[in-house]
Amino acid sequence: METEEIERLIKISRERPLLPETYIPWRLEPEAEDIFLPEFLTSLHGLDIYDTLTPSQKLELGRHELVQVIASYAWGECLFCLFMTRHILTLPLANVEHRFLLRELIEEFRHQEMFGQMIRKLGGNPIRQTGIHKFFGELSNKYLPADYLFMGSVSVELVTDVYGNYWRKSTNIFPALKKMFDLHNFEEARHIIFTKSLVKTHAANAGYIKRTLYSYVILFNILFVRTMYVKKEIYERIGLKNPDKVYKIAAKNFKSKFSKTCLKDIIEFVDEWKGFNLLTRWAWRWILNAKV
Ligand SMILES: [Fe+2]
Ligand SMILES: [Fe+2]
Repeated sequence: METEEIERLIKISRERPLLPETYIPWRLEPEAEDIFLPEFLTSLHGLDIYDTLTPSQKLELGRHELVQVIASYAWGECLFCLFMTRHILTLPLANVEHRFLLRELIEEFRHQEMFGQMIRKLGGNPIRQTGIHKFFGELSNKYLPADYLFMGSVSVELVTDVYGNYWRKSTNIFPALKKMFDLHNFEEARHIIFTKSLVKTHAANAGYIKRTLYSYVILFNILFVRTMYVKKEIYERIGLKNPDKVYKIAAKNFKSKFSKTCLKDIIEFVDEWKGFNLLTRWAWRWILNAKV
């Protein structure tokens, strides 16, 4: 990436910061018709069971799942900040990449605080990550080389960007929440530009095996994100009988919904550097239901 382009991104971040403290109308309370998650993104929408829910159960499902989504973002961003902090230690302070990552760290810390504050405002009670998520999250963060971690991060950022756009386009979303997603998408857009160009250079110089590994890192990062949202406890909270059974059909439903709504950008990105090949295509189809 051109140094001037990174300098431009740094300049925007410094001169036009969006502070969650003032950008989000924290004093607003949800009105009766406000929702928290676009209905079609909830894990049960599209299933027969969804039509049997009362309006308040639908609203509560959206509230709990929204809380789960943003708590997962906050956790993932916190992990990534750990990595970035270690990574900038390897770069001189005056280095342009170092300076951009400092801005990214500042923004990501603000995001985490913002997500936490929104969760408290909505009376949320996020369910902790599973042991598997914690184990793989922390292990990969510590031991994967930087280029692989940036690959993982851009894939998660691209998915969350698409997700955020659904909130921003929905008409009856609680306005404070909508502002929160506006802020997040504006700032993540800069991270995506930077990280995409960084990893594209790596991918352009990579051979078949490395591109295959990159492709798998992205695939598992997306699987990681997808499986953090659908939770059995949420069905218990909204008073459904047979939460186990509901969880099974919901997980399947969400898998196909996720592949239809959230994978387009990331598939295009992986395709650009020929990340789909004989060794990876089948896994993308099987694990993510991706049309590749
Ligand atoms: Fe963020
Ligand atoms: Fe980011």
